[in-house]
Amino acid sequence: QAPLRDLADQQGLRMGAAVAAHRLDEADYRRTAAAEFNSVTHENALKWESVQPQRGQYSWSGADRLVEFAQQNGQRIHGHTLVWHSQLPSWVENGDFTPAELTRVMEDHIGTTMGRYRGQIGSWDVVNEPIGDDAQFRDSVFHRTLGEDFVAESLRMARAADPDATLFINDYNIDGINAKSDAYYELAQDLLAQGAPLDGIGFQGHLVSGQVPSDIQRNIQRFADLGLEVMITELDIRMQLPVTQQKLEQQARDYTRVVNACLAVPGCSGVTVWGVTDAYSWVPDHFDGQGAALPVDEDYAPKPAYWSIHEALGGD
Ligand code: G3I
Repeated sequence: QAPLRDLADQQGLRMGAAVAAHRLDEADYRRTAAAEFNSVTHENALKWESVQPQRGQYSWSGADRLVEFAQQNGQRIHGHTLVWHSQLPSWVENGDFTPAELTRVMEDHIGTTMGRYRGQIGSWDVVNEPIGDDAQFRDSVFHRTLGEDFVAESLRMARAADPDATLFINDYNIDGINAKSDAYYELAQDLLAQGAPLDGIGFQGHLVSGQVPSDIQRNIQRFADLGLEVMITELDIRMQLPVTQQKLEQQARDYTRVVNACLAVPGCSGVTVWGVTDAYSWVPDHFDGQGAALPVDEDYAPKPAYWSIHEALGGD
């Protein structure tokens, strides 16, 4: 059976996984991450708190490790993430900056991080989750200090840092058409109208089995119609535990729907699942009683969801 990455290559599609650099010591993890995916995203190692925990003190070991792994395995890398209210070191989160100071801090962080991986990381979640579930801009040091302009400013800084990189904004609960994705649709139009260098939008795709939005394809299409690249950047489809065969089959149908929606829209460049194995998924830690959200189970065995992606990508 062809691995997912070969099928995705044939479709010209990105089939990625979030990878935790420190798990690469584990043989099964490493083997699965290399064999199945043509793209990787750092699950945590490129976030601000990992990369620049103290002002001016950069630490690249985790981030470098996955970059080297990807290069050894001929994988593309999606950079996650530069400007986000979460997993910020306290010197940024609680910093009392003037707008000019924060701009310098952001320029330095974006410029140094993107600069280090220029030519190696081809696309970036420049701004992550700027809008809340109430469809309003979220409170953050960035929004408090710079206002809504922080999004356009971040994109400009990113373009200056690496003119060849594809620049994304990325969020969850915007997979279907709803108030929050409408807010992104407006934000994207607004950014493009003012000439801000926005190239793509990431739908994270943290979904619940049986509740895949029915209009996901229409939603991908409307952003693609703006000229944006759309990616499903963090797909997982969680279920109430314990796992049953019936739930696995429902989940497989859910994965098919998401992958097919992406395949149906030429502007959708691929799908990344948020983890290599159910064993290390973030889901059970954050949603009580839920889990089993990924296509590969805790023992690295492919689940029905794996085979449904396989089939959607043209495998037999
Ligand atoms: O690194 C510390 C470790 O030193 C400590 O011993 C351990 C004890 O809890 O915590 C470790 O930090 C954890 C970190 O992951 C690294 O493993 C944090 O507690 C934990 O909260 C953190 O969770 C990450 C989460 O983002 C934080 O918001 C998840 O792994 C990661 O999958 C998740 O990813 C996010 C995307 O970046 C953005 N979209 C949503 C997605 C899911 O939440």
